[in-house]
Amino acid sequence: PPATKVKIRGCANYHEKRVRVFGWVHRLRQQKENTFIVLRDGSGYLQCFISGKLAQTYDALTLTLESTVEIVGTMKPVPEGKTAPDGHELIADYWKLIHAAPSGDDAFSNKINEHSDPSLLADYRHLVLRGEKAASVLRVRAAMLGAFRTTFEKLGVLEVTPPCMVQTQVEGGATLFKLDYYGQPAFLTQSSQLYLETCLPSLGDVYCVQESFRAENSHTRRHLSEYTHLEAELAFITFDDLMTHIENIICDSVEILLADPVISKLVYQLNPKFQQPKRPFMRLDYRDAIKWLNEHGIKREDENTHEMVDHVVGDDIAEAAERKMTDEIGVPIFLNKFPRELKAFYMKRVPGDEEYTESVDLLMPNVGEIVGGSMRISDMQELLEGYKREGIDPAPYYWFTDQRKYGTCEHGGYGLGVERLLAWLCDRYTVRDCSLYPRWPGRATP
Ligand code: 4AD
Ligand code: MG
Repeated sequence: PPATKVKIRGCANYHEKRVRVFGWVHRLRQQKENTFIVLRDGSGYLQCFISGKLAQTYDALTLTLESTVEIVGTMKPVPEGKTAPDGHELIADYWKLIHAAPSGDDAFSNKINEHSDPSLLADYRHLVLRGEKAASVLRVRAAMLGAFRTTFEKLGVLEVTPPCMVQTQVEGGATLFKLDYYGQPAFLTQSSQLYLETCLPSLGDVYCVQESFRAENSHTRRHLSEYTHLEAELAFITFDDLMTHIENIICDSVEILLADPVISKLVYQLNPKFQQPKRPFMRLDYRDAIKWLNEHGIKREDENTHEMVDHVVGDDIAEAAERKMTDEIGVPIFLNKFPRELKAFYMKRVPGDEEYTESVDLLMPNVGEIVGGSMRISDMQELLEGYKREGIDPAPYYWFTDQRKYGTCEHGGYGLGVERLLAWLCDRYTVRDCSLYPRWPGRATP
């Protein structure tokens, strides 16, 4: 019978039928008479059984990992007592070597393995991606972005694509990547927030999935120089509405993600203890968090004396303290109402409590901050004062200021670090494992 060309993912539908598959030799076991290949084509893994004359050829006897092959045969259930991915295997009646990967010193398994040095693994990221864990994380990542888009669509929030090359800052001048733009100073964007705000009067609530860039000299588990930033902006809302919306975006999207059995299996393989977040998230006022840290003996390092001291109101809660608190509490936390001096120029103050802002970070166990958001200043005069306080020249921001001139409104939004969310979801130690080709200080290759 003729063979149908299929992707491995669809093979389960072809029991007792002849199929033709193409892929890479992911695992290889050679016995005297037989060759077992676990074939990988990016859509899945398939055990292939090659026996008899087919296993005695030069190509079969010298086959190497990562070689590319074509295999034709019949799909059969795996005999009892044996295992294979997804419980079926391909019994080959024809196979062909397409390209032989090297053996010896240059063999794939000699290039990298799980004990390789991290900097070597970073150099060989293009090969690391062929591993099951790396591929699983990237699959979950793609599904997660899809789930977010579905949720936004359900909520009537429109996707837009703001520019990456800009002439304004959002989150402080210190972390800007500068570039020469036809002789003019320009930057790689830190956040698309200001552009999203300008869309509200035209398109209503909007979101974007865009790369953001931060020249942060931080070699931490959760900082990248380039990361994928999911940002949204919503008009005519209150601070409470903003938090409820973030809760819904996260919970609904995770629910959509886990409804896909293939993806759900990957998530629980990577993170067996994963707990779906429950609404409503805990809300913790910044000042109560400072109290909590002191009551639990979580100290901060004094900049001058380098001694460990208690936190005081006004302190930026450092990554380590934040993570300890989040891990101890063990559930998502909306840490909110940060002091004005810790936060950006555009943030709205808490009415009647003017030294604090309507700002919120969402903290997740194992990672800490994955979302940062706030209500925005809607009054033009107040925004002009905000620029002044931060030492920002208002001229290049004329278009942003205009939003407060031509029909202002109460509005707010947030940014979510996609790699940080994935580190939480897939239980990865570092965000570097959640990016296709991660960038950090000193690393922009491959
Ligand atoms: O808290 P951030 O700096 O907030 C903003 O950029 C706002 N303008 C967003 C907005 O309101 N539209 O960044 C938002 C999120 C953080 O919570 C974090 O998850 C992620 O972006 N993030 C980073 N992720 C990886 N590497 C870095 N260097 C990051 N900096 C921020
Ligand atoms: Mg932040």
